[in-house]
Formats: sequence, C-alpha cells, structure tokens
Amino acid sequence: MPPYLAEPVPLFGPAFAADPHTTYARLRGYGPLAPVLLAEGVPAWLVTDYQAALALLRDPVTWSKDPRAWEATVPADCPVLPMIGYRPNVLFSDGEEHARYRSVITDSLAMVDLGQLRAEVLRVADLLIAQFSGVGEADLITQFTGPLPTMVFTRLFGLGEEYSPHMVAALAGMLEATGPEQATAAGAAFFACISDLVAAKSRLRGPDLASWYLDHPAGLSTEQVIQQVVLTLGAALEPTANLISNAVSVLLSDRAYYSSLANGSLAARSAIDEVLRREPPMANYGAHYVRQDTVFCGTYIRPDEPVLVSYAAVNAGIGGGPAGSSGGGAHLAWSAGPHACPAKQPAFLIATTAVERLTNALGDLQLAVPRAELPWRPGPFQRALAHLPVRFAPVIPN
Ligand code: HEM
Repeated sequence: MPPYLAEPVPLFGPAFAADPHTTYARLRGYGPLAPVLLAEGVPAWLVTDYQAALALLRDPVTWSKDPRAWEATVPADCPVLPMIGYRPNVLFSDGEEHARYRSVITDSLAMVDLGQLRAEVLRVADLLIAQFSGVGEADLITQFTGPLPTMVFTRLFGLGEEYSPHMVAALAGMLEATGPEQATAAGAAFFACISDLVAAKSRLRGPDLASWYLDHPAGLSTEQVIQQVVLTLGAALEPTANLISNAVSVLLSDRAYYSSLANGSLAARSAIDEVLRREPPMANYGAHYVRQDTVFCGTYIRPDEPVLVSYAAVNAGIGGGPAGSSGGGAHLAWSAGPHACPAKQPAFLIATTAVERLTNALGDLQLAVPRAELPWRPGPFQRALAHLPVRFAPVIPN
C-alpha cells in the first residue's frame, strides 16, 4: 500500500518505548517515507531510508526548518510544540539567519578547552560516584548519567550548580511530551532559568559560553542570546545523558565489552560508537518542511506537513559492519547537512570520559536486571532509559 493511503503509526506509547525497532522495521516496509503520529492526533512523515535522509538533510533549497506553516494547523497546547514548535534559534532558521546563529555557537564551543572539559567531567564524575559507591547499588540515570551533563554544562554556561535539578526536571518534561500542560509548563520553566542567567551575564561577564555568546562579533541581541542558550542546552543535556546511559547499558550487557572493561577507554569508545549506530539518543528528529508542494520519494508533501528523519531507523538500515563502523555508510546519529550537530567532539569527549571513569571506579559493575527488562522513557524523539539499576561491591573509603 502506498504510504499516503496507510494508517499513521504511533511513535509513542509503552509498546513503542519498549521496542522501537519492531516499529521501525514495519515503517521501513512502506518505503523511504512512512506516515506516523508524533502524539495523539499529530500526524507527520518519517524518513527511514539512508539515501532519502541524506537527500533531505543536504537540500536546504527544497526544505526549510521553519515550522510555522504547520504550527498554524495545530492547537496551542499540542504536546510536541516544545520540541518542534518555532523559536527564533539556530535549529528553526534557514540561510543567513541560520549561519549567523550557528557561527556564535560553533565559535564559542571552539573556545572550550577540551583538556579542561575532560578534567571537569572527571571532577563531576568522581563527585557523583562518591555519593553512591559505598552503597553497592544505584540507579545510574538519577545518580550519574542524568546529573553529570547538567552539572558540566551549567558550569560551562556560567550557571551555579544549584540550577541543575530545575533544568533536569524541565527538560525531561519537554522531551517526554506526555501532556499539553506538562510540556508547556516544562518549556516555560526552562526558558525562565536561562533568561535569569543571560540577565546576570549581561551585567557581569565570565569565562563561560553565555558570556561568549553575548560578546560574539555577530552581535546578537540579549533576546537572541537567550534563545540560542536555551537551544544549545536543550540540545546538549538530554542526548548526552542518554548517550552515556545507553552506552553503559550496552557495555554491561555484552560479554565482548564486559570482558574488555579492563581496557577502559577502548571499551567505552566502542560501546559509544555502537550506541550511536544502533540506538542513537536523538532517535527521530530533524523536522523539515517543503517550501512549496513537492513530491518526495513518490509522496505528495505540503508545506504544513512535518517530515522528520528517523536517525534510528536510517542507521538500522545501514547495519552489518562491526561495532563502531557503519557497514556501508557513516551513521547519522549526529544528523548531516547544515543543521548537523555542531558539538560532536565535546559530546563524544564527555560521554567517553564519563563511561571510562565510572567503569574504572566500579570495576565489577553489573546490571541489576537483564538489559531486555530495562524500562525506556516514552516519547517520539529520544531513546532514553527511565532507570538503569546496577550492583557492585561497595567501595569502602580508605
Ligand atoms: C556537547 C553536547 C551537545 C551540544 C552542545 C549540542 C548542540 C547542538 C546544536 C546547537 C544543534 C543545532 C544545530 C543547527 O541547527 O545548526 C544540534 C543538533 C543536533 N545534535 Fe547535538 N549537541 C550535543 C550533543 C549531542 C548528542 C550527544 C547527540 C546524539 C548523539 C546530538 C545529536 C544532534 C542531532 C541529531 C542534531 C540535529 C538536530 C535535528 O535533527 O534537527 N547532539 N546539537
């Protein structure tokens, strides 16, 4: 059946969260493009084919990132608006405006000293591990992988660490998109946090990303800086946390990795590469809109219809190579084209350092339940564990 006649497939609910790959296999049966629901009553198209994904991501002439034509067709409380609704930032802009915002972000990220960043990740990792290492068990999501990127990034942006819990709660609410009120309140809480930060940095600069955004020669207004900080943090925290937790879960459940844990960084890097390929933290995103009515992959698309890229389904289609390779094409976990993730290097560094430190500190770490029984969080966009219970021999301080 052609995809435009098929019933849209939900990308939410417990069955999808537990086993998205069965849904991706079904969607791939429709051809390169499949009809999906992002939430109850919110249809979209999903690209599941590697070449079609690249064609879309690299063609800013046909495709725009501006969702406003679609937004005019959905209610104001549509639960996915906090994730794909328009905001004047790098992710939803095109052409020169996009290049201007992006230069502020890439130039400022380039000013981050990677040696210092690694040292900061080690400091935060040690702090977090010390809080549970004497107990012999932990939920790594709440006790390690969630707080770590937040603590690292709050410092990088010049925020006090006391902000971290508010930001984690707000971001989780946005990504899960479970209900209109929760999603809207979460988006507002996150925005308020960042507005306070930029106001403080406008008064007094520091050696941090928020100050560098303010001082960048592109000359963004305070409002524009707030928008780019909100976006950068939103884009950084959850995917980095999920990259770490997905990798730890793979590492602890796969004998091949587990037996090479003594090799530390090699095991950590391979597990992260494997997760990027098989279970990318941003599973389905990259919402694009045609600038005018267009036939794409045999389907007629209107400018008010979101077309998302399933990085997870696309990657599954290029599998076959050994862990860390793509077996026929580079994985798209970081997306591609003008909107590809500008922070691959720091994100990879944070994740490998965190995984290495954790597995070195707790050498006998093991999952408390088999990986197949681990609970995953709902939501169409992310691949994120809800809990990651582990056991280990308690570490007795000297
Ligand atoms: C250091 C942490 C990170 C930062 C600061 C960061 C920042 C960003 C920013 C600013 C964008 C928007 C780029 C644009 O529109 O031109 C972006 C896009 C993206 N990032 Fe990252 N990111 C981080 C970590 C990650 C991680 C761990 C992943 C997952 C592997 C990831 C995957 C992506 C993807 C897939 C996109 C494209 C978004 C889309 O599909 O529209 N990022 N990132």
